Amino acid sequence: MALRTLSDLPDSQFDGKRVLVRVDFNVSINNGAVGEDYRIRLSIPTIEYLAKRGAKVILASHLGRPKGRERLYSLAPVAKRLSDIVGKSRPAIRFVDDCVGPEVEDEISKMNKGDVLLLENLRFHDEEELNDPEFSKKLASLADIYVNDAFSTSHRKHSSTYGAAWLFDVRIAGFTLSKEVEYLSMIRENPINPFTLVVGGVKIKDKIGALEHLLPKADRVMIGGAAAYTFLKAKGVKTGNSPIDEERLPWVTTALSAYGDKIMLPTDHVCATSPSDTSVTMVRGDIPNGMSGYDIGKETIERYSAEVGGKSGGTVFWNGPMGMFEIRVFSNGTINIARSMALAFWRGSKTLIGGGDTLEAMKRSGVAENEVSHVSTGGGATLRYLAGDEMPGVVILNGH
Ligand code: ADP
Ligand code: 3PG
Ligand code: MG
Repeated sequence: MALRTLSDLPDSQFDGKRVLVRVDFNVSINNGAVGEDYRIRLSIPTIEYLAKRGAKVILASHLGRPKGRERLYSLAPVAKRLSDIVGKSRPAIRFVDDCVGPEVEDEISKMNKGDVLLLENLRFHDEEELNDPEFSKKLASLADIYVNDAFSTSHRKHSSTYGAAWLFDVRIAGFTLSKEVEYLSMIRENPINPFTLVVGGVKIKDKIGALEHLLPKADRVMIGGAAAYTFLKAKGVKTGNSPIDEERLPWVTTALSAYGDKIMLPTDHVCATSPSDTSVTMVRGDIPNGMSGYDIGKETIERYSAEVGGKSGGTVFWNGPMGMFEIRVFSNGTINIARSMALAFWRGSKTLIGGGDTLEAMKRSGVAENEVSHVSTGGGATLRYLAGDEMPGVVILNGH
């Protein structure tokens, strides 16, 4: 059964109803202002759809991992940014200083049809992460309908994603969550071939589950970033001081023997003695002792870019930067892959990007969100979903 989303319900069902929408506004806050607001912008279709149909829209989210009520983690700057984005075309977004309790109930009782209210950080109450039944009841009592539009938090079995959701008869997917599930389940179950996977970044540990699931389905897998050195070491290449995940070496060795013919590894590297060492050395093959690889080299960039950018059909999924892209001298590999992803998109491939740092890298490379078929909002959630894990926040939705 397909996941039910807002447009599967008649408009009349929302009229005058209080709708609790779990969004993921876990964004970076710098000096009291929102940094990257992609997750906020993504919530707009769901908010406007509901508001236009006369719902009273109550938004709930977490921000960061606060220990109790820490002001630094207030969602107040998000309310401001959301108001700025939706502009003057609608009543201002209101904000209330808590997420449950009398003050919140009072604010909700004053809402008119089409109003939008953002609740304060759910994690200011420890009970949220404990999926506490009493807290879930309080949260659920605030509304008539539950909408989950927070795919990137749906791997968490918390009150707002699970316990409270269960208490509603109508608990459906928002537009962002349903699009995310549609794209990621396509990749997970039935990718359009040829299916190309580009994996970089650091933590192999977090990516093994997704790799295990996707390796058999992929036609080509390109490994870059720090993750590549564990693969190279498993093949007997000298990796100098580059980071190696010793614990995952056996898994990597097995993966290479089973799928070695489709796995591409870097053949040259941009090396230095430390990230702050600006006198970089280009190395082909073995990396000398005392040096680490911080980016893929020119030859590797050419091979990987030709493979990705040369696609004119099929699917490409990219997670994890090709190097320490935050430092300019180590950003070439990542920039080239981002641009090749855009080229593949323009040539007709379905392209997907996942991961917080990968999204950041894409932006820095001058590639826009509309040059990618789907930019996943999830970090951990996306990898868990691709690994085939159950997502508590998705499983509880009607029509799942
Ligand atoms: P994402 O958030 O997109 O899933 P990861 O968190 O797995 O990506 O990896 C991103 C980090 O990997 C970046 O901070 C980047 O600096 C780092 N990185 C990539 N390649 C290297 C490398 N060769 N050496 C050290 N760090 C690297
Ligand atoms: C994320 O940014 O990955 C989600 O918002 C989940 O946050 P969490 O890892 O703190 O639960
Ligand atoms: Mg990351």
